[in-house]
Amino acid sequence: MRLDVVTVFPEYLAPLRLALLGRAVDRGIVEVGIHDLRDWTHDVHRSVDDTPFGGGPGMVMRPTVWGEALDDLVPVPHPDTGDDDRPLLIVPTPAGRPFTQSDAHRYARRRHLLFACGRYEGIDQRVVDEASETMDVEEVSIGDYVLIGGEVAVLVIAEAVVRLLPGVLGNRRSHEEDSFSDGLLEGPSYTRPEVWRDRAVPEVLKSGNHARIDRWRRDQSLRRTAERRPELLARAELDTPDLALLAE
Ligand code: ADE
Repeated sequence: MRLDVVTVFPEYLAPLRLALLGRAVDRGIVEVGIHDLRDWTHDVHRSVDDTPFGGGPGMVMRPTVWGEALDDLVPVPHPDTGDDDRPLLIVPTPAGRPFTQSDAHRYARRRHLLFACGRYEGIDQRVVDEASETMDVEEVSIGDYVLIGGEVAVLVIAEAVVRLLPGVLGNRRSHEEDSFSDGLLEGPSYTRPEVWRDRAVPEVLKSGNHARIDRWRRDQSLRRTAERRPELLARAELDTPDLALLAE
């Protein structure tokens, strides 16, 4: 997979080359390009923004600069390649659709993700409108709060996607059992010692009875979801024992 990021703060994206993400880069699973938007300016001030039409506070990022950046970073389509090879342009914005685990899975199947980080009051809308003609484009939000710019959102999305790529996580099962994979939150986990500061690990986990352990984990998951994210239960697949537990 190739990941390109365009930003006015390239150094903000340095964590893409650290830890798990960095290891994926070293192993050739992901190629990362971090680009300074100001490289596509032509004025002495290297300015990327201007005042908004219609008035109002803040500044809007100029379409001229973004247009040239995207033209340079998006390969001209090869006649033999199908639509699946179109890059996916991801524009993080608090005004986007919420980014979810199922988006992470969808993005993990793409060959080329291109992230456009907006700052100030965002990017001139015509950039997104025009890009939609040659790329798939998604404007996404990582949560109902406002960040200063899209950079941290890119780190969040990139990490959620890259850990799903084959060969990145050691244990294949580890993401099949993630919170959200079955629509529920993951329950608690325990390791040695069996007793720590007078707190014992739940007996069932030491029983060796895998059917009981699975049922217990499922119950913990259901209880936690009901308490913390009850709205998720409406969309989860629940069987009769699940419904009985929730009715308790
Ligand atoms: N940029 C600013 N706030 C954001 C958010 N919540 N999600 C994605 N991008 C953003």
